Formats: sequence, structure tokens, C-alpha cells
Amino acid sequence: MTGSAVYQARRGAPGGVCYRVLLWEEDALPPQQLEAWRTGRRELLAAMRDAGIKGSRGRLSELAEQLRELTAQLIAAPLDACAEARSFSYARVEQLAEDLSAALSAGEGVLAYCLTSCTLSVLVELRGEEGVDAWVARWRSASPELTWCAEPVIEALGAAEAHELQEAYRHEAGLHGQEPDVAGETGTGSQPFHHVTVLAREAVDVLRPAEGRVIVDATLGGGGHSELMLKAGATVWGIDQDPAARRAARLRLAPYGDRLHVLAGNFRNAAALLHEQGVDAVDGLLADIGISSPQVDCPERGFSFLAEGPLDMRMNPDAPVSAADIVNQAPEEELADILWRYGEERASRAIARRIVEQRAQAPITTTTQLADLIAGVLPRKGKQHPATRSFQALRIAVNDELGALDALLASGLELLKSGGRFAVITFHSLEDRAVKRFFERVTKPEIDRPEWPAPRPNPEYAARLIFKRPVVAGEEELKHNPRARSAKLRAIEKL
Ligand SMILES: C[S@@+](CC[C@H](N)C(=O)[O-])C[C@H]1O[C@@H](n2cnc3c(N)ncnc32)[C@H](O)[C@@H]1O
Repeated sequence: MTGSAVYQARRGAPGGVCYRVLLWEEDALPPQQLEAWRTGRRELLAAMRDAGIKGSRGRLSELAEQLRELTAQLIAAPLDACAEARSFSYARVEQLAEDLSAALSAGEGVLAYCLTSCTLSVLVELRGEEGVDAWVARWRSASPELTWCAEPVIEALGAAEAHELQEAYRHEAGLHGQEPDVAGETGTGSQPFHHVTVLAREAVDVLRPAEGRVIVDATLGGGGHSELMLKAGATVWGIDQDPAARRAARLRLAPYGDRLHVLAGNFRNAAALLHEQGVDAVDGLLADIGISSPQVDCPERGFSFLAEGPLDMRMNPDAPVSAADIVNQAPEEELADILWRYGEERASRAIARRIVEQRAQAPITTTTQLADLIAGVLPRKGKQHPATRSFQALRIAVNDELGALDALLASGLELLKSGGRFAVITFHSLEDRAVKRFFERVTKPEIDRPEWPAPRPNPEYAARLIFKRPVVAGEEELKHNPRARSAKLRAIEKL
């Protein structure tokens, strides 16, 4: 199984007793075939018991090999075919992985797993008192909407064999045995989660993470900033609306145990999400606004005009509106407005007109369809693809990125303790302007207006600026990560 599966794997060789467990959805195999496997297995297990009693090692390994073959033939190969044939819904499998992730990471016994449209294959190392059945029960109860088969295939593996399988899954997850630096380590078969953290040191230093300090990472992503804060001893509450990001961060940051708390949701609701967990005041709040590289690089997410994919662009796959909804349903004027306002696209009207003409013939459903349409309106100038600005504009609209940022700014200060710090990294002039204006508004002790005889106290005054000008990436960072070129870090401290 490669392209149509989600893989995860931990680093580090197993040391103890390992099992490979294969669960599948009940209806993925024909009942007669299953029955044939059960009967064959029963007979082989009985023969193995006899051979064991007689102490016949040669016969025992011969029978074990026959059992393996029988399972490969009647279970594993048909399941592979079923997973390939069933339509693979990235969002569904991601969601399932998300539901299962807590159960799969509990106790750190799970070394690797692979989830397809109809199977879950897990490599687990038994470390405590629990048997493998307890693990299986946990995965079943974490995915109650699925009817998993009653009898999973459970196979004991030697440490070397288990390690080989773990490495194979790591390879499929796109890791290829590399030590990720500030990058995550999970992905679909074709898409590793790899995001290079921007202004890592600068942003983390400004928040002063240390033991006993509680910091909210409102844009957890691959966990790059969070990892540095956890390393410094802080407790981190990480929020992300993308299940793939949350899974990647959970896996990468598992070594920090219960100092990391992952929350699913939109940071516009950060205060409510934290209050629900009993967290009312924190020492720091970080937002690294925008999308992560894996979101852009994964064609199924529909962010990129360079690869064929559904016209989606939702960071949260459960959000109600996708880019295709806007492109196919918004009135022409609204479309033009989105392209102009969020993409500063000068040809916004012409593009909107062409979209409306095109969708009257047939809906525009893929990224390349839209990119080609835009390229037909705009001649290519220089290196930039003509669809760059329109795609950015649609992405901002689909995810209401400016609305979410405004809501975070409005509520963020209230979450902070006195002396707590609020740091925001932006990549877009509209976002930076929103942050700059808000930070100016709350850091001025007085307001002066020409019509007033004297300045008056500012009722919103609540913080001080940490640096007057935004911090930008240095030469060294730009050499390695050109994406950092447009990044701006601004920060304030609550009085
Ligand atoms: C630039 S990445 C963060 C990368 C992270 N700092 C790191 O070093 O790995 C931004 C992340 O924020 C998430 N995100 C963006 N807007 C969000 C919002 N309104 N609510 C929750 N998460 C959001 C995205 O899904 C993405 O994973």
C-alpha cells in the first residue's frame, strides 16, 4: 500500500515483544473467503499445537510459514486490492487517523501504523502489563463508527523483523531515515509532513519559555516552534484546525509527554477552547499565521495550482465552504472583490467574468482547471504563475484568515497574565497591517485627536511593544528557507 494510505512511524528500534495487528472493515472481504481462512487457520493452529507438544521445531516453523501464506493469500492481498479499489477519501482517512491517534499513541507502545480506506495495520511493542487484546480494544473503541472484523490477524514478530517493518513504514511516511530538524514526521504515502519553521529562535526567545511557564501555540502546524518551547521546559497548549498537522505534531512531540496538550479547533476560539480545559491565564501566546508547506504540497488539499487536485483549500477539512463552492457559486462581483482584496489581483474583474462564463458550461472542480482558466486571461509575466495571486486570495477567503486573525487579536490579550507576551508571525501585508494596527492601538497610553484640546487616556492601553520594528529573517535563514522572506514577527507584553 503506498499512495492511498496514511502512515506513521516512531524512531528508535524496538526492544521487547512486538506484534503486527491487522484490522479491517467487516465488509471489505467476502464472508466465504473469511470462513475459508478461519477453517484453514484453525487446522494449522491445531497442527502447530501438536508439533509443539512433540517438540518438533522444524515442523512448527513449516506450519507457521503455511499459516503466513494462507493469511497473505486470503486476507492481506485481497485487503490491499480492496483498499486500492475503494475510493480513498483523504479527509475520511485523515479524520479516522485523528480519531485514532490518541489511542494509537497511548503508552508509546505503538511503533508504526498504516491506515487505508478499509484497514488498520499496527506494529505494537508490549511494554507494560497489557496484552495485545487491550490495544485492539482501545483502537476499536476509538473508532466506533467502523465495524472492524471480529478476529484481527495478530502476528508475533522478532525485534529485527519488527524494526524492518517500522523502517518500511517510516520510509512510506516520506522520512527515508532522515533525522528531521524542525520538521514533522508523518504523512500520507506520497506526502511527508515537512514544514521548516520560520523565525524559530526569534519567536521562541521572545516568549521566554521555561519550566513552569504555560504557552499557547495557536498554530501548532508541524510543531517546530512548540518543540523549542517544550525543550526549554514550558508547558504548551497547541491549537490547529488541520488534523494532519495535529497528528504530525503529536507524533513528533510525544517525547515531551503531558507537557504538550493538543486542541483541535480554530484559533479564533482560542480563549473558549482553553477555558473549556480550565486554562484561563497563560504566560505566552504565539501565532505563526498562514498555511504549512505540507498543506500546499499535498495535491489532495487543493491549495496548489501546480498540481492537479480538487479545488478545496480548506485547512480544516470539515469546514463548510471549499474553494470550489466559492468559485462556482459566488456572484461575479463578490468573486472579483475577493481576488482584488485578498490577492491585489489587477485583472480581478476579467478573471471573475471568465469564471462565470466557464461555470455556466460546467462547474470548475479542479486546481488545474482554474489555473488554466486564469492563465488564459492573464499573460504570464516573469517567474510568477498568473494564478498565484488568485489562489492566495481564494485561500484567504475560504479559511476566513483575516477574520480569524482579528478574533485572535481581540481575545489574545485577555488570555495573558500580567507580563505575558503575545507574538505573531505574518506572511502577508494585510495580516501584518492588522497586527501592527492592533498592537499600536493597545500600546499607546494616550490618544490624541486634532479636535481635542489635549490627549486623553487610551481605554484600550494594556501592553507595551517589545520591538518597534518587526523582526525579519536574517541572511542565514533566507539561504535555507526562501519562504521566510516575507515573514514579519511582532510582539507585545501585557502590562
Ligand atoms: C505556518 S503553519 C505553523 C507552523 C508551526 N509554527 C511550525 O513551526 O511547525 C500554520 C498552521 O496553523 C494552522 N492554522 C492556520 N490558521 C488557523 C486557524 N485560524 N485556526 C487554527 N489553526 C490554524 C494551519 O493549519 C497550519 O498548520
